[in-house]
Amino acid sequence: MIKRDVIVIGAGAAGLFCAAQAGARGRSVEVLDHAKKVGRKILMSGGGRCNFTNMYAGPENFLSQNPHFCKSALSRYTQWDFISLVAEHGIAYHEKTLGQLFCDDSAKDIVNLLLKECEKAQVTVTTRCDILSVEKSESGYSLTTSNGDYQCESLVIATGGLSMPKLGATPFGYKIAEQFGLNVLPTRAALVPFTLHDKDKETLADLSGVAVDVYASCNDTTFKEAMLFTHRGLSGPSMLQISSYWEAGDTLSINTTPDNDPHELLNNARAQTPDALLATCLNKIFPKRVSQSFIELNEWRNVPVKQLSHGECESIANTLENWHIKPNGTEGYRTAEVTIGGVNTNELSSKTMMANNVEGLYFIGEVVDVTGWLGGYNFQWAWSSGWAAGQVV
Ligand code: FDA
Repeated sequence: MIKRDVIVIGAGAAGLFCAAQAGARGRSVEVLDHAKKVGRKILMSGGGRCNFTNMYAGPENFLSQNPHFCKSALSRYTQWDFISLVAEHGIAYHEKTLGQLFCDDSAKDIVNLLLKECEKAQVTVTTRCDILSVEKSESGYSLTTSNGDYQCESLVIATGGLSMPKLGATPFGYKIAEQFGLNVLPTRAALVPFTLHDKDKETLADLSGVAVDVYASCNDTTFKEAMLFTHRGLSGPSMLQISSYWEAGDTLSINTTPDNDPHELLNNARAQTPDALLATCLNKIFPKRVSQSFIELNEWRNVPVKQLSHGECESIANTLENWHIKPNGTEGYRTAEVTIGGVNTNELSSKTMMANNVEGLYFIGEVVDVTGWLGGYNFQWAWSSGWAAGQVV
């Protein structure tokens, strides 16, 4: 029987960070993970450079059934705290766009930072360890694992969400929550590309690989970022962002001309270049392939603009500003960056992350019903929630 003050299950961003905090307070801590390697999502993140936080992170960048829950942890361990730690470790970083901070070299730098912090705090990290059972005991928790039996006072669940099962994601955290009587909200894939119905997919097939800036809107939320056409459907930052607000059956509204007024474009063309084809006009604001596909998709007449009536021009401009498309679905957990839903925040203390009715049981990171936008917010939640639990476990 191995005895520890604290066991953390899950050696990802939240688990390793929490373990280092608790170890630094003098607690004996062991992190257990079933995977071969720690921090696999960190290594994959940000195209291998890890978008480790966002300079503008605030509660408004997170989705949760209780939007207030994340406030306490985010305000007590902020992006600036993590940025200082990154600088302390001599890791070079840069802002890519919209406050998103990436490592200059490699996401490995962030994993090494976490492992060094764990080492400094004398935390034991054990990989390839399957957790077979978890039971409440008089003094805390008893675990049966493939690495032997453990006993601990505080048990922290940091096993993340369901996205990318290939990287070791499992529903373990939700099952433990249910075992101890906590409510788990329904989950769905988020920050995920959309798939399209066959007809739309065929018409847009030629555009695979092309990106355009758009305003993407759904359910009263709008993002202005790039949209990428793929051979399966629609991706790119604007689509990933809006996917978190989309529910099956919803229609997306896309303004494909966020920086141009298409009414003005067509009116000017009719006055100044009346013999130019519609496609030629549209090529002023879109790549050629996009103009062509929009004309086909909407069955517009590709004739000299002088032959288009005022009403036709208005209708074309309105469609460009407010293109309605109903996705068939999403690519699901296979390619999603995160999972929406999870352990209901009503069950947890926002200050400590401990379950209100289960002494010594904590949930941190993505397993909790707090989901960030694309852009470093999800790691910030992992650091902030891990830090909050790390002060008390
Ligand atoms: P995480 O998923 O990091 O860790 C969970 C750990 O638990 C894993 O090590 C897993 O092996 C382990 N585990 C699971 N089940 C277990 C079981 N049954 N027994 C034992 N161990 C178990 N976010 C961001 O802010 N910036 C970014 O650049 C990116 N980029 C990105 C790219 C890709 C491809 C993905 C999939 C995701 C991102 N994200 C991101 C999201 C971010 O990676 C994610 O929100 C955090 O890693 C969540 O941290 P956690 O520690 O909660 O879970």
